[in-house]
Amino acid sequence: MCGIVGYVGPRPVRDVVIEGLSRLEYRGYDSAGIASVEDGAIHVEKAVGRLSNLVDRLSDEGAFSGHIGIGHTRWATHGRPSDDNAHPHRDCRGRFAIVHNGIVENYLQLREDLLAKGHRFTSETDTEVVAHLMEELDTGDLFTTMMAVARQIRGAYALVAMSAEDPNTLVALRKSSPLVVGLGTGENFVASDIPAILEYTRDVYVLDDGQMAVVTRDGVQCFTLEGQPVAKDVLHVAWDPVAAERGGYDHFMLKEIHEQPKAIRDTLSGRISPDGTRVVLDELGWSTEFIQSIDRIHIVACGTSWHAGLVGKAVMERFAQIPVNVEVASEYRYSHPLQTDHTLVVVITQSGETADTLAALRDSKARGRRVLAITNVIGSSAAREADAVLLTLAGPEIAVASTKAYTTQLVALYLLGLYLAQVRGTVDDQTLQEVLSALVSLPQAAEQVLDAAPRIEQFALDYQDARDCFFIGRGLDYALSLEGALKLKEISYIHAEAYAAGELKHGTLALITEGVPVIALATQTHLYEKTLSNIKEVKARDAFVLGLTFAGDDELQKSVDEVIYLPQTMPVVAPIVTVIPLQLLAYYAAVVRGNDVDKPRNLAKSVTVE
Ligand code: AGP
Repeated sequence: MCGIVGYVGPRPVRDVVIEGLSRLEYRGYDSAGIASVEDGAIHVEKAVGRLSNLVDRLSDEGAFSGHIGIGHTRWATHGRPSDDNAHPHRDCRGRFAIVHNGIVENYLQLREDLLAKGHRFTSETDTEVVAHLMEELDTGDLFTTMMAVARQIRGAYALVAMSAEDPNTLVALRKSSPLVVGLGTGENFVASDIPAILEYTRDVYVLDDGQMAVVTRDGVQCFTLEGQPVAKDVLHVAWDPVAAERGGYDHFMLKEIHEQPKAIRDTLSGRISPDGTRVVLDELGWSTEFIQSIDRIHIVACGTSWHAGLVGKAVMERFAQIPVNVEVASEYRYSHPLQTDHTLVVVITQSGETADTLAALRDSKARGRRVLAITNVIGSSAAREADAVLLTLAGPEIAVASTKAYTTQLVALYLLGLYLAQVRGTVDDQTLQEVLSALVSLPQAAEQVLDAAPRIEQFALDYQDARDCFFIGRGLDYALSLEGALKLKEISYIHAEAYAAGELKHGTLALITEGVPVIALATQTHLYEKTLSNIKEVKARDAFVLGLTFAGDDELQKSVDEVIYLPQTMPVVAPIVTVIPLQLLAYYAAVVRGNDVDKPRNLAKSVTVE
């Protein structure tokens, strides 16, 4: 996710753009930039790091005092955070400028074609391709030029373009990534999100997918990307600015839970072949012989990321048939881990800055191991120090309780496990295609399961005074139980424990008494009957059982008090949707108990100390 701001009107553009970007830093903050048209030329200033670094570079009061401009705060996906990779990007002649949020999936092909035509690139980004394409397809009119550009690029994008030849016009395009047009009097605005413009106007057009807007200070006209005029309704925004930064959600955590379908889609984007038959992870840069040489994998992480690693273990052992150890980073580094020259170390870290995980990474590298980092922050220490990086494209995760980072870590681990299996020849084509198809259908399944939110909220309300809560499951459902218990503990402060369902009777069953809430996960069909038996064990002690199973299962409801039905999918990829009700349960329990959901007590978003 990135932050975009565009302005045309009587105000000095730097005031509007900088203020707007400051309201969007939650969307990305590894670099920022501004461009304006003044005296027939496009001026650009960019700075890696926080927005304040860009402001420091705008020391010249007269700079960017023009009346048309665009700005951007970046969440890097292609190309590490740097001045050169910061937006806005320009064409070779500096006559066009562009800012972008999203992914141009076919940028490599376009870049090669443009290089062959003599274009010279100054960044590693996919976005810069658009600026050169504008030069290549220039019709002399920014609107029709951008229509021509839209026909060439594939992927998810929100673009705002500007031309030195037309200092009164911005052209905005939307395909999957959000974009709104703020409607002022004698001035108009474009932004990737409403908070950026609330100070100036509460009346907006929300561009729909496949739409574009031609914005001048005197008016806004909307079209389809094919140039057909579109009538738009004015949306009057009643939010306060703080709520607006949360996209209208009460908390960042709820916003991020609801962003998971998009985050899953973005993390899959470009990593499955167009025909859906193969995993494409060339970005790892691994040779076939290296992949075939791996004889063990050590997954090392903390907290929720460690829970993701447990799912990764199941996937890699099942499909790639490589033995996997999943280690808590704070233990691993002092456990004299048995590594060989053929051990692949995989660190999973949303922030890329967790001290224990980084220490495990550095120790492993010092021993000569190949290290892969699965991380959500492209410029993080883990991303910079690992030998290879597999990015989760979840966008910035602000809430301390990790949600969309976890589900996108799972996506990355499925892709990695299937990729290893594909190269090592340990998975047949049919199975590979079936699992990939199930992964591709997950964003929609995640959308569906979010519909269960009201029922989960009611359950949280009913059990807000619970002293203990237990999560049980077998196989992958046990790994999910661990994540569900952590979510509930860390934000509702209710004591919660996860148990392998078959383990309860070896002691913990003593704690199951009348009314104790038990969340029972039953998605692993090959273990269903055994799980059902364990559910009956706790019901026999009068526990209150909330069961999670697939839609169409009429059996479970006979043995539990309430059931949450999940959209049908392959059990092996079920974790990515099973976790969503568990996240919602923790969220609503924390809300009903009046806790600070996004900043729970004693915790930090990134634990940079040991
Ligand atoms: C998850 O909800 C917690 N905030 C915490 O367990 C977190 O997953 C852990 O600290 C690891 O963080 P990382 O992924 O940034 O390394």
